Amino acid sequence: MKRIINYLGFALLTALLFVGCKKENQSEKSQSTQMENIQVSDYGVTAKGDSIKKYTLTNKNGMKVEVINFGGIITSLTAPDKDGKYEDVVLGFTKPEGYFDGNPYYFGALIGRFGNRIANAKFTLDGKTYDIDKNDGPNSLHGGKEGFHTKIWTVEPIGNAETPSLKLTYVSNDGEEGYPGKLTTTVVYTLTKDNALEIAYEATTDKTTIVNLTQHSYFNLSGKFTQPITDHELQLDADQFLPVNSTLIPTGERRNVAGTPFDFKTPKLIGKDINSDDEQVKLGKGFDHNWILNGTGLRKIATVYHSGTGRVMEVSTDQPGVQFYSGNFLDGKFDTKTGGKNEHRTGFCLETQHFPDSPNEASFPTVVLKPGEKFQSKTIYKFSVKK
Ligand code: BGC
Repeated sequence: MKRIINYLGFALLTALLFVGCKKENQSEKSQSTQMENIQVSDYGVTAKGDSIKKYTLTNKNGMKVEVINFGGIITSLTAPDKDGKYEDVVLGFTKPEGYFDGNPYYFGALIGRFGNRIANAKFTLDGKTYDIDKNDGPNSLHGGKEGFHTKIWTVEPIGNAETPSLKLTYVSNDGEEGYPGKLTTTVVYTLTKDNALEIAYEATTDKTTIVNLTQHSYFNLSGKFTQPITDHELQLDADQFLPVNSTLIPTGERRNVAGTPFDFKTPKLIGKDINSDDEQVKLGKGFDHNWILNGTGLRKIATVYHSGTGRVMEVSTDQPGVQFYSGNFLDGKFDTKTGGKNEHRTGFCLETQHFPDSPNEASFPTVVLKPGEKFQSKTIYKFSVKK
């Protein structure tokens, strides 16, 4: 009997050890798989001497997204075409210095504290007027000259074997670029199994402030960065847009898109009305306006299709607006990643956000963030093909 108990005890111990080893192997395996789908490499050194890293996220299909810890910039993002060929579809520089020394187009960058324009570079909050950086004529654009696109973010690879994620954090001190409050921002980039890039934003503050975060990637679904994006078809789920003045500040009017060049309710080539005589198209030098998105909550708001390659990009967001910018200020000054120069309208942005100049326009949804509150938002860019 004693022998049997001893024997059973031994068998139990062996079984436990076996299970334990298996668990350990499994966790080792998942760790190494996680390492496999996020590669870290040296990217470059800024003029200030900061060493910048590049993080490459890869999913099982072979889609890749490259992100640097400078500006949280997406330097490359590949998507399949109708033959299954993955190609880079976001504009960018050929050298790190392009991003480090000003990035005049905000290629691929995270934008904060306030995406888009604030009229006359000032706003009033709780009776106090704040002067912020005037970097766009009389206005402030994309958080000022030293906005989030120029900051070094802390990056933590997270996620699992199937969905690699990067968590980026930046703490902006009270008064930075003229904005009140110490603002802590986190942005999580996740590459999903179904070829989507999910971007989740969060921000908290220690003093009442304003916040409007977005991502400034320029897409060209042809994968050829010298080709104009006017041959892409766009559908936008918006019945109204925000007309602007001569410095691209919304006038406060909400105008119906019906019967105007701004009507993208059913798919339309971007090039169709881009050179129209419409006063608003002229003011934007093409499309450079905020559309008021229909509905609320996380919903699909836009579809872009490039017939030549079959590439489709669908955009979902929980934000009230999207700035559709047709790359009107691209001016051929820089080399593209596929040769040639970054000419006029060779990329477009769909920047999901709150409305421009919201702090000065009481009728727009609020962008005020108070201590104890958490700003949270999500945008998804999903890639597929139509044959
Ligand atoms: C704005 C454009 C601006 C561009 C800068 C866009 O978000 O709408 O007017 O020129 O950013 O790259």
